[in-house]
Amino acid sequence: MDVIFASHDEERHTQCASALQAALPALRVRRWEKGKPPTGAKVAVVWRPPAELLIQEPDIELVFNLGAGVDALFSLPGLHEGIQIVRIEDAGMAVQMAEYAIHFLLRASRGFDIYAQQQRDAIWGAQADIDRAAWPVGVLGIGIMGARVAQAIAALDYPVAGWSRRGQPLSGVEVYGGLACLPAFLARTRVLINALPLTPQTEGILCHETLSQLIPEAYLINIGRGGHLVEDDLLAGLASGQMRGAALDVFSQEPLPAGHPFWSHPQISVTPHIAAASLLDKTVNQIVHKIQAYVRGEPLAGVVDQRLLY
Ligand code: GLV
Repeated sequence: MDVIFASHDEERHTQCASALQAALPALRVRRWEKGKPPTGAKVAVVWRPPAELLIQEPDIELVFNLGAGVDALFSLPGLHEGIQIVRIEDAGMAVQMAEYAIHFLLRASRGFDIYAQQQRDAIWGAQADIDRAAWPVGVLGIGIMGARVAQAIAALDYPVAGWSRRGQPLSGVEVYGGLACLPAFLARTRVLINALPLTPQTEGILCHETLSQLIPEAYLINIGRGGHLVEDDLLAGLASGQMRGAALDVFSQEPLPAGHPFWSHPQISVTPHIAAASLLDKTVNQIVHKIQAYVRGEPLAGVVDQRLLY
């Protein structure tokens, strides 16, 4: 069986392709090349693939996405219902997301930025004791990633709620389900963590209307996609004082362009889409098991619903 790799990340591509080839020697693993005749491959492993991929390779039946967010795939010309898109499920990412969110939550709730400034000024002074009730955390999107984030924060005794379209229960977390419950979820949240998939329904969900419903002096931690955030609405929220700070890992344009106001904003922390990376061994292990299941004709876990786009 032929497997083609198409990723804009050369190094990751090469490492993953070699590990997959070593694990399944019977496969013919090769790199996709633009403008060549179809290879006949039925399986593609991709990360932000080129637009021509599925047109040039009409035999593809299975696409493995080397990450959790599959939003880059739905606009691919040639995509049809007969193609199964399989996301990497966790592969070490959820715990990294939890670390990222906890880091920025604690910086705010425990005043660590203030202590850093105090050290620069040689000031010895304790901030007020933390009152966890003043830091209700809300996690938008409680799939594999968001659930781990929410439960990790709940384990630190912060009041935590989660919101999802379906409202599936999550132990230790108060769950709000469906758009009708979004206002109640926002109204009890001060630290909003976004872990939603990007779909036409969630695009721009972090906007004036939602941010203004949060408990004042709110914080935003965006580990979803840049397309979730209306950037000017965040800047306006910070200027008005409704928002106190934001930690952003994802942006509508990546890399974040030079001169973008987020770079120098004193209340915004920018990281370069590093909140969570899928770990190579776990990723390859998942792909190996799923290719084996596919060959045996078994249903695969992690297949994306093409109607819901996640
Ligand atoms: C990273 O952004 C991912 O979707 O895995």
